[in-house]
Amino acid sequence: MKFRTEDIMSPPILKLAEAAKRYIASPDFLDLGQGLPGHIPPDKALASLRERLSHPSTHLYTPDQGLLELREELSLYLRQTGGIDVDPQSELVITAGANNAFAGTVQTLIGPNENIIMPTPYYFNSVMAVKLAGGSVKEIPTDANFQVVSEDIEKAIDANTRGIFLVSPNNPTGAVYDRKTIDAIVDLCLTNDLVLISDETYSRMVFDGKTHYSPRLRRDAADSVISIGSCSKDFGMSGWRVGYVNGPSQFIEQFLKVQDTVTICAPTAGQLLALEVLKSGLDVIEQEIERLNLLRDLAYLRIHEIDQLEVVRTSGTFYMFPKVKGCTDSSALVLDILQSTGTLVLPGNIFGEAGEGHIRLSIGPLTPEAVDEAFDRLTRYFET
Ligand SMILES: Cc1ncc(COP(=O)(O)O)c(C=O)c1O
Repeated sequence: MKFRTEDIMSPPILKLAEAAKRYIASPDFLDLGQGLPGHIPPDKALASLRERLSHPSTHLYTPDQGLLELREELSLYLRQTGGIDVDPQSELVITAGANNAFAGTVQTLIGPNENIIMPTPYYFNSVMAVKLAGGSVKEIPTDANFQVVSEDIEKAIDANTRGIFLVSPNNPTGAVYDRKTIDAIVDLCLTNDLVLISDETYSRMVFDGKTHYSPRLRRDAADSVISIGSCSKDFGMSGWRVGYVNGPSQFIEQFLKVQDTVTICAPTAGQLLALEVLKSGLDVIEQEIERLNLLRDLAYLRIHEIDQLEVVRTSGTFYMFPKVKGCTDSSALVLDILQSTGTLVLPGNIFGEAGEGHIRLSIGPLTPEAVDEAFDRLTRYFET
């Protein structure tokens, strides 16, 4: 059989999970690989969902766009947390996660031979989605602090460029792009008739006194900016598959053709849970985010003690992306770390060539004690 997906990379986490299988079963296993926070949705939201389970409508499709009550509540949340004006009727679709939102967005936008400009290291599923849609990715390196340089993006634009893709706060680096840079990139999109796709999955996880800036705030560019969000990380509900896409109404109208074909709607129970979190659980979510803030401080303190790791302190997410001195094969290194210490981290090369020589540590699911234990193990590993 011939497959049109042959040129697309295989899911990298699956491969790694296979290699890690026999270590994962051990009681000493420490997981710094999984890109998730440690919390689940607040009890109150779960209790409300439980009450809804016997209601027939919980088990049926919702409208393709998602429950109107959820879109309204989410619009309110986006205004309160980011100052963004969203029309829940015409500018918002609830999707089965941010991945579904991004894949649908590129299916809606990209034609054959068109390219999307992406800073590297990149979130690998985005590259896979662009290729699945028949397009290609033009990689541009970020600077020593993992910041994107708008002049480099400008130089990469060619006649086949359809759009620019930004992830801020970033996976895998944690970098948060500042307003000036994002505005410069929005201007490039306006001048060159490009679309800016902004993945804001980690928008609530910005620390060190920084703030998240969404390019959807640029009302003069409202027709050129599409923003993607997720309930997986901050709401702790990755398994429920709920995310969203916010963009101009003419885009949303077209996006719904993909949505109807691929998923029809996001899972109904997941949408109801997201609604309950928005209505009654935001204070608990804020506490969990503060927990991550403290964990980050501890992890940065500990990582600086390891001479072989060169780390840039970034201001977002729960990821760290240190360079390992002398490392040229991060896949082999990660397997060796796993075998020697029972600790899983991700190889930087799955985030593109620019990530080679790095490892990604996710401290999201850990307790402070587990962070200490993980860095004790890494210190011993790199010292011997
Ligand atoms: C930048 C980024 N976008 C999207 C996703 C996927 O999110 P979701 O679970 O909402 O599909 C992730 C998950 O790790 C991510 O890091």
